[in-house]
Amino acid sequence: GKTRHYKFDVGLKNVSRLCQTKPIVTVNGEFPGPTIYAREGDTVIVNVTNHVKYNVSIHWHGVRQLRTGWADGPAYITQCPIQTGQSYAYNFTITGQRGTLWWHAHILWLRATIHGAIVILPPKHHLYPFPKPHKEITLLLGEWWNADVEAVINEALKSGGAPNVSDAHTINGKPGPLFKCPTKDTFVVSVEHGKTYLLRIINVALNDELFFDVADHHLKVVEVDAVYTKPLRTKSIVIAPGQTTNALLYANKGSGRYFIATRTFMDAPVAVDNKTATAILQYVNSNSNTDFIAMPRIPSQNDTSFATNFSNSLRSLNSARFPAKVPQTVDRHLLFTVGLAMDSCPTCNNGSRVAASINNISFVMPKISLLQAHFFNITGVFTTDFPDRPPTPFNYTGAPPQNPMTSKGTRLTRIPFNSTVQLVLQGTSVLAMEKHPLHLHGFNFFIVGRGFGNYNPNKDPAKFNLVDPPERNTVGVPTGGWTAIRFRADNPGVWFMHCHLEVHTTWGLKMAFVVENGDGPNQSILPPPKDLPKC
Ligand code: C2O
Repeated sequence: GKTRHYKFDVGLKNVSRLCQTKPIVTVNGEFPGPTIYAREGDTVIVNVTNHVKYNVSIHWHGVRQLRTGWADGPAYITQCPIQTGQSYAYNFTITGQRGTLWWHAHILWLRATIHGAIVILPPKHHLYPFPKPHKEITLLLGEWWNADVEAVINEALKSGGAPNVSDAHTINGKPGPLFKCPTKDTFVVSVEHGKTYLLRIINVALNDELFFDVADHHLKVVEVDAVYTKPLRTKSIVIAPGQTTNALLYANKGSGRYFIATRTFMDAPVAVDNKTATAILQYVNSNSNTDFIAMPRIPSQNDTSFATNFSNSLRSLNSARFPAKVPQTVDRHLLFTVGLAMDSCPTCNNGSRVAASINNISFVMPKISLLQAHFFNITGVFTTDFPDRPPTPFNYTGAPPQNPMTSKGTRLTRIPFNSTVQLVLQGTSVLAMEKHPLHLHGFNFFIVGRGFGNYNPNKDPAKFNLVDPPERNTVGVPTGGWTAIRFRADNPGVWFMHCHLEVHTTWGLKMAFVVENGDGPNQSILPPPKDLPKC
């Protein structure tokens, strides 16, 4: 492959949305940030320089980072952050992945405005496993906050309650014509009748799972999280924060203008969604001097059955050329409960605050990076005694768990190189109805099963799909249910796993795996680069 160089300057830029102007943190003054293009097999070097008062780090979400964990990006997990005035060159090779991924800041809540697409094309002279689209269109579905985003979470941590929600959803940074001051804030896609378009859709929102729909058009999903799928024809798609979906759109209407829309999906709506973002699909050469725009029939905010049906319909392509390598046997069985609970907080207004946890452990961020501590054998930074199962068996029909209060710790799970892991994620919904999009760094995993209620280790595995389950890096754990994933620990290093709802990560819904080096050649993590930031 080729080597592709990018330069990212992190700096402030004044941006106007919803009739207001405010400075936001951007990369190269762009919002959303620049797209990274590469072919499978290419090496990407991104030199990041920090010109703002915040510490910064950038994560290449979904990029496997085989043996290059130093370039993964989560602050205090694989690196110390890049301090004001400093630079760090992220250097990684795209191995065995093609499709759409994305990059975002991985510290504080800076990813609200520091994010962009990663477009991975097939190697030269290789084709897509679907008809070549006329054009490709990248659509980042995000959120806009009128307030300063860091202030929003800091206030919530002080009060102990939930943070304010954003003011609008966005498509490529723009809320669209349903909001005030739309002219500048509308993204328009021009299409020609009879042509096929590849939409690269990314959920970059901080805290919302989303529906996505194009009025009067069907979509055909062909790839999720940079893995090809069996073509899935659907009216709308469901996409959790962190996930990416490539879908073909066939422009079969002769003319006119059609809304592209994205709105919240929430099993139990705590608030009515008035944040729906729209963009416009416009046929070229059509008589569009009327004001008519076709409205989408997007699922309603709490349409869980649509979302469940959509998730259950996704399958890996699993062709001869792109086989699904699902682990058929399991070396290590893990059962993690994920959820929210109240924790005492003497400094909070109410004496308590929301805490989020895995197996009742709320993760405490270390002072130096876990990967450095692991690589250089620095003791006292973390322990490797993260429990394989919850302290009290979780049961929806029995008494709620004895102690919903969480303990705190920087506890990790150690896994031998190349062992196969089955991880069942059980949503608890003890405090609130919440669906958690869990993201694992360093790996793709297969979603072999999911269901509602309690996971039953005696019955449910018989129903697992071990042939062509979807392969992803982020999975939604259903509200009041569970999901089972399998992966092969073939990537040595320290790998973060967390809820991709940023507020839940802040509250502690996170942990990490240490994957040991193997004995063979090319089975160890590479040494750190010279410019690795210091804490
Ligand atoms: Cu997209 Cu750890 O994040």
